[in-house]
Parts: sequence; C-alpha cells; structure tokens
Amino acid sequence: MKSMRILSVASEIYPIIKTGGLADVVGALPIALKAEDVETCTLVPGYPAVLEQLRTAATVLDWVPFFGGKARLIRGSHGELDLFALDAPHLFARPGNPYVTAEGTDWPDNGTRFAALGRMAADIGLGAVSTFVPDVVHAHDWQAGLAPAYLRYSRRERPGTVMTVHNMAYQGKFPRDMLGEFGLPAESFTIGGVEYYGGIGFLKAGLQLADRITTVSPTYAKEIQTDEGGMGLGGLLRERAGDMKGILNGIDNSVWNPATDPRISKRYNADHLQDREANKRALQQRFGLAPAPDAFLLGVISRMSWQKGLDLLFDNMQSILDQGMQLALLGTGDADLQDKYRAAAQANPARIGVLIGYDEDLAHLVQAGADALVVPSRFEPCGLTQLCALRYGAVPIVSRVGGLEDTVVDADAPAIADGSATGFKFAPVTTEYLASALQRALKAFRDRSGWRRIQQRGMSTDVSWRARANRYAELYRGIVRA
Ligand code: ADP
Ligand code: GLC
Repeated sequence: MKSMRILSVASEIYPIIKTGGLADVVGALPIALKAEDVETCTLVPGYPAVLEQLRTAATVLDWVPFFGGKARLIRGSHGELDLFALDAPHLFARPGNPYVTAEGTDWPDNGTRFAALGRMAADIGLGAVSTFVPDVVHAHDWQAGLAPAYLRYSRRERPGTVMTVHNMAYQGKFPRDMLGEFGLPAESFTIGGVEYYGGIGFLKAGLQLADRITTVSPTYAKEIQTDEGGMGLGGLLRERAGDMKGILNGIDNSVWNPATDPRISKRYNADHLQDREANKRALQQRFGLAPAPDAFLLGVISRMSWQKGLDLLFDNMQSILDQGMQLALLGTGDADLQDKYRAAAQANPARIGVLIGYDEDLAHLVQAGADALVVPSRFEPCGLTQLCALRYGAVPIVSRVGGLEDTVVDADAPAIADGSATGFKFAPVTTEYLASALQRALKAFRDRSGWRRIQQRGMSTDVSWRARANRYAELYRGIVRA
C-alpha cells in the first residue's frame, strides 16, 4: 500500500499552543498515524509561541501580499511533529490566547485570520509546496473550515477533504460582506455553499463541502444530528449522515502514564495502587486541604464554561461537605463561577480546594491523587480528562453525553458483577442526578476491594491513540483520489 500524505489544519497543537482538547488531538494523532503508514504535516498559524518553538525551520514560500498584509510559509519540526507555520505578523503576532484579547473579547479580525489559514491550507493542497503535496486535507474545527470550501471552488484537481468537528458550540460566523475580502467567489454564497443564516459560516462551509465529516465520538455523531445538539447545523448533518463518522479520541500514552510520569509525587501502576496514596497526600497539600487519607477526594480539571456543567457540581457543595468529601478543582473560565468556587474554598479550606488557572503539571497530580474525577458536562464531544482519569485510577463520575457515554462503563449491579465497571454515569444532566451519582460513588468507595477492582478495570482500558488511529487511516484511504 502506498503511504499517504495528509495536511492537517488547526489553530492549536500540543505541546506548542493549547487552549483545550483540540490541541491534544491535533498533536497526538499525527504521531499515532505514522504506524499506519500515514505521513502528516500540520499547518498552524504562526503565533509567537509557534515561531519560537519551531526547530530547523525553513521558508518554503517567501513573503507575498496575503489578506491585507504580508505572509510567508515556514516548514519545521517540533519533536516528532512536522509543521507548516503561516507567518503573517499582521494576523498572528499577538501574545496570549489565540482567539481573544487580554480583555477576553474575540479579536475583531478573527474572520480574516482564519480565512487566511484556510486559504493557505488550500494552496498547499493544490500543490504550492512541491515537497509536500497532500493526498488529503484534514480540517479541524471552524478555524480551518474554509479550507474545504476554497478547494471545492478552485475547480482544480484537488486532494480529498475531511472536516472534523470537535465542538459544535464554536462555529465561526461572519458578515456576508466579507466574502470578497475572504476571496470566496460570489457563487459560494448559497445554502449549498458557505452561506449560514445570512452570513458566512466557517464550520458550516467545512461540513457542507468536505468529502467526509468526522466527529470525536459515536454518541456525539448522533447528538449533533438533532436540532438541539446540532446548534443550527442538525439539518445539514442529517442530510450528510452517510458521509459522517464518529471516531473516539485517544490520549498520548507516553505523556499520560502513571508508571513513568515525572510530574507526579510517586509513580505507580495498577498492581501498586497503594502508591497512589502519596499522590493523594501531595494533592491535598497542594490545594491546602486537610491531610485526610480516608476522605473521598473528588478532582476536577476543566474549562469553566456552560458546557462543562460545573454549576451543577457547585450546587452540590453542601452535600459534598455534609458527607465529608473533599474537592480539588483546577480550572479557569467563567468569572462568576470562579468567584463562587473561590468563596466556597475560603469558607471551607480543609474540604474544598480551588486553583484558578491553567497548569498542565498540576493536572497530572490531580489525576494521580484524586479518588474520582468529576465531569458533569451538559454536552461533551469526546472529553479527554475522563480518559486520563481511567488511565490513572481516578474513577470517572460523568454525565451520559457524547464521548463520556462512550468511554465509561457505569458501575450498575450487572457491571459490578461481571467486573466491567469503570465509573459512574448519570442522566439527565441535573444537580439531583449528579448528587445521586456522587452518593453511589461514595458508597462504592467505602468498599475498598470493590473500588480497587473498578480502578484496575479502568486502568486496563485501552484509551490510546494506537487503537484508534487506524479509523482515520481507513477514512483517508476511502477518499484519496487516484
Ligand atoms: P475541552 O477541549 O472541551 O476543554 P477535553 O477534555 O477534550 O475538553 O480537553 C481538555 C484538555 O485540557 C485536557 O488535556 C485537560 O487536561 C486540559 N485542561 C483543561 N483545563 C485545564 C487546566 N485548568 N489546567 C490544566 N489542564 C487543563
Ligand atoms: C473539544 C471538546 C472535547 C473534545 C476535544 C478534542 O474541545 O469540547 O469534548 O475532547 O475537543 O476532540
């Protein structure tokens, strides 16, 4: 079989620039695909962090006028990743978060910034870089959504295209009068093209015009075909259901491995779960909690947005306290929710620990030290923290949505009896149903050997990319043009 070349296009990539799970996936999938004989180069915006971290970089397309300024294309590497960076200082030479200003509002020119990304992806797809002519262009999320559109309207011989949606809640919609500035032809402004409720929809364009669509779990693939889950795109996805697949995410088993993890206090494996206790102690200390080995310690690692349902957990605070549980929350996001959690921690420092911020190292300690990881999401395309939790023996307590439904086996009576249980699930996603899942988990935690079985089963679950990358390879093979 001939090896395939894929141009992956995304606005973030771990470990260089990350705001969420998208970066993890975009950073790990290319490495896993090598075993499938798939060669991937990833196009990302030339943010300062990207330009600083590219090794052995060379200019492959020299400065040209591009979207209102000048741009060039750099190719380089970072670890095992092969990268293209779109160096366009007028669009990307801005510090901090890739999407928002220091005040937290979207950059006003986000449409132009990510249209430029899509345009460059299409140019590479059409052969602009002779040393890397891809068989498939794989666009991730709305920021890359115009790539399949530019390719389709080029009317030239083009590579196959895949649009992957990691989160339906972010769609990238811009005014119709930007069509010319984006360099899209007038004919593209139709229902069957880029038009979206009177504007230009980036995600819509990708979902409409790519050869294939994927999302990051089978359950989310079904959910987004409903009007509610589709968030405006349900109808389109129902029409394209035959071209859509849900492929579960994995995690990078070398980054997330409790037996070798340099970021935790004591390394351990499923046969030495007693060694987790040192991590629990370290976690309690780090969050200023009482050093209570027997307290049921809940962990949370999350963006604090409506999606993640942390308000539902907050509404359970009194019963968490009443039942003697502890909580260690690492997160950042919604200011009101941050304040509420901070206040709860101040009022109950021995039981509630809250660290507001983004801390990759500390996330590992939470996974290694918490007894359970709570993910009460209202929707969750896949979710990665519950996968890490499985691997680390932090028993996931999750809502039954999206990838959470697909990756955790609820500890109901039959699953406990046959040993398949790996966590606790609840539905509908309400404060009350979360409360009862927490109670069920607490009760199970009190039975030490039963709890250990749940932990061990979770730790033996294969959550690696190795088992999943072949689904992408298969998909690519199906659309490679002769
Ligand atoms: P989403 O992409 O919707 O935020 P995921 O579960 O797919 O959710 O991915 C989140 C990723 O970001 C995980 O790798 C998780 O460990 C990490 N993460 C989220 N919040 C924090 C935080 N405050 N500190 C460190 N890591 C975080
Ligand atoms: C999104 C989703 C999350 C998913 C991640 C990676 O950020 O919110 O559920 O795991 O993308 O696919």
